[in-house]
Amino acid sequence: MKNLFLSIAWAICFGASIEAIDITGLQQIGPIDHYVQTKNGVVFTCRDNSQVQIFVWAPDLVRVRASFLKPLPERDHSWAIDKTDWTAPQWKIIETSDHFVITTQELEILVYRSPLLIEFRDAKTHQVINADARPMMYDSKSTTIAAAKKLGFDEHFYGLGEKAWQLDKRRGQFQMWNSDTPAYHEGTDPIYQSIPFYIGWQAGTAYGIFFDNSYRTRFDFGVDSQEHIAFAADGGEMNYYFFYGPSMKKIIGRYTELTGRIPLPPLWALGHQQSRWSYYPESTVEELARQYRERDIPLDAIHLDIHYMNGYRVFTWNTDRFPDPTEMISRLRQQGIKIVTIIDPGVKYQPPDEGAKDATKNPELALQDKSYYVYNEGIAKDYFLKRKDGSPYIGRVWPGESRFVDFTIPEARRWWGDLHRALFDHGVAGIWNDMNEPADFVDQTGKSQMDVVSYDEGEHSTHAKNRNVFALLMAQATFGGFERLKPNDRPFIITRAGYAGIQRFATMWTGDNSSTWDDLALSIPMFEMLGLSGETFVGADIGGFAGKGNGELLTRWYQVGFLTPLCRNHKTVNGYDQEPWRFGKYYEDIIRKYLKLRYRLLPFLYTNLEEAHRTGVPLFRPLLLNYQSDPNTLNINDEYMIGDDLLAAPILRANQTTRLVYLPEGDWFDYWTGKRYAGGTMIPVEAPLDTTPLFVRGGAIIPMWPEMNYVGEKPIDQITFDIYPSDKHTSSFTLYEDDGSTPAYKQGVFRRTKVTSTKTTGGYEISIASPEGNYQPAPRSFIFALKPASATSVLLDGKTLTETAATGTANGWHKAKSDTFIRINDDGKPHRIQLK
Ligand code: GLC
Repeated sequence: MKNLFLSIAWAICFGASIEAIDITGLQQIGPIDHYVQTKNGVVFTCRDNSQVQIFVWAPDLVRVRASFLKPLPERDHSWAIDKTDWTAPQWKIIETSDHFVITTQELEILVYRSPLLIEFRDAKTHQVINADARPMMYDSKSTTIAAAKKLGFDEHFYGLGEKAWQLDKRRGQFQMWNSDTPAYHEGTDPIYQSIPFYIGWQAGTAYGIFFDNSYRTRFDFGVDSQEHIAFAADGGEMNYYFFYGPSMKKIIGRYTELTGRIPLPPLWALGHQQSRWSYYPESTVEELARQYRERDIPLDAIHLDIHYMNGYRVFTWNTDRFPDPTEMISRLRQQGIKIVTIIDPGVKYQPPDEGAKDATKNPELALQDKSYYVYNEGIAKDYFLKRKDGSPYIGRVWPGESRFVDFTIPEARRWWGDLHRALFDHGVAGIWNDMNEPADFVDQTGKSQMDVVSYDEGEHSTHAKNRNVFALLMAQATFGGFERLKPNDRPFIITRAGYAGIQRFATMWTGDNSSTWDDLALSIPMFEMLGLSGETFVGADIGGFAGKGNGELLTRWYQVGFLTPLCRNHKTVNGYDQEPWRFGKYYEDIIRKYLKLRYRLLPFLYTNLEEAHRTGVPLFRPLLLNYQSDPNTLNINDEYMIGDDLLAAPILRANQTTRLVYLPEGDWFDYWTGKRYAGGTMIPVEAPLDTTPLFVRGGAIIPMWPEMNYVGEKPIDQITFDIYPSDKHTSSFTLYEDDGSTPAYKQGVFRRTKVTSTKTTGGYEISIASPEGNYQPAPRSFIFALKPASATSVLLDGKTLTETAATGTANGWHKAKSDTFIRINDDGKPHRIQLK
């Protein structure tokens, strides 16, 4: 009763209805009867005929799979999983009278016979990391399944992908059910994406659980019970992966090894992007580009929202508004601006007029009023979803009544991918997937889709299982289209909905937020959680999508957005204009300053993005990820880090010009003033509107490009390495570079240049290691800016370097204010610089 009351009170406060996981009425799996050992694990058969399979996939990764009252089904498939061919690590099993112990180098998994309880321990310390509070559960009347784990007194929870919630999920309840939730706010749940993966933290030690079940799932982190947490699904299998850290970075690394990592997008995708529902006609798009260039505000891409299409028919052009898309796109290209077009899943339901035929060449430019080629092809190939009774599933989205593709059919995915020819042939550079929950105005809850059947490798399952993976498969189809139709360009796809593994195919934005301070503040824990859940390339509609913003809000929003991987300003159809100049020159000048800084920081951002591609560790991080043993960082929602080195503490409220900033242990430099602080404490900082608090870690080296208005505008003839020395350790950075546009990086066409700087007695030493990889950048010089340092002499490879003018191109050095600058030409060879 008390729980019910609390849930109702919660729902009233936050305006959302969260259904609790009631495990009291569920049956528990029976005790173990016997077991068999397999190549990479064990199958336990229970007295009630249930089965539990433990797979040992890595010393720190174990999979638990269970079926209730029946043997495990033969089909074992998940759309989320990227890697299935794990080489079993060394492991052994020991049997005792009341339990089994499966041991790897890092984990001990205790499986008790009766009741059947699973416990994970550290193999070295034997400390319990995570333990069942009850045997796994099922409901014999419905298809509900559930697990309950003991809740630690000081246990904290992170991840779960896209949730409109604070960083720490302790005392929260959540659902996974992809939902179109315009103008969502803190507490709205579920929203667009479902990533049923969380990380638990207790006393500095972390583990992860990925409940890979695409049905509607629920998580309760200590709301209904003080003793346990629970996760449950409306159907499907009990199927979860247990990851052991103790480091969070290691867990994310493994999770993204399992579900895949982000391929590198083109470098221009890190550039500033402008969107609007919708820019049209052609002259408006070109005027927008002109304004950007005239105002000297960086811009790499313009997004065309639904009005570029002919009556919202996907894979068509409205030729009244865009008479010659190829010409327009090529003119914009010459100014360095790429076009990204929206593609929704709904295909207008439009049986052809009698006798009407589609054009065989460029049907996307033809009038579609008599016959719509995409609909016709989908019908002819029988790729559209149907209901259980065989009738067509017809939803209602922008074009009105619409059909939806069954993306579980491999040929349908290929067909859909190939349809992008209608855009790529005209020069479109990126695809924006929207409404892919899939949204349906008839019923946004998904209830009307419960009898929609997908092929699902012959299982013919319904949307109860497949709704949450619809967007993942649509993104996979789009990705395939990119790879086949534009093999020399890296795919750039943005998605709204998704399931675990979506990072393999698409970047994401956080959907329809609002122009409010609350939503600006909420975006920070959202990006941080997405990063912990494998999604690195994230961003929100800068300025807010719904409602009316103002100059102060837009400026502060850019002060967050200039460091998010996706940096895109977007606004709703009837909203107030919010391009950077719309609220006056005062704000425009500040926004320009931050966008220019973003472009200078591109080599730093790109190197961090490549780290995420290679290791899974995200670029946009909560402080906790870098300072996992510091309990002060457990729930910091208003600060974030980019990689290991930049700490941002933006202003997230109106009329605020000072704030407190928590700096973790170590030395920190105020980015703007160079002032040095000792960390491990909270400091007050000034933050007038033109200044966002930004700190650099002592020990960091930040590479900077020259200023530019779009990627590729100028040759990179100079890279400046800003060196922030630390008294305690060496500063270092390994710059990653490649051609920024083709997939050649996958074949090793990249270059890594490691720069280190150490304090010596009486000076500093900087070394540039021999570069790795075979990418050849254009000729350029390196500038090393040592802050703050004053030198009287500088040696390059043991020979005296001459003091030169600041503007020279020859090797040399000079002082400016309290910094020392050393310039050397990058000849691809290792070098040693000594400052005395
Ligand atoms: C959805 C999207 C939004 C887009 C609009 C029209 O609301 O989330 O970004 O502008 O549809 O396509």
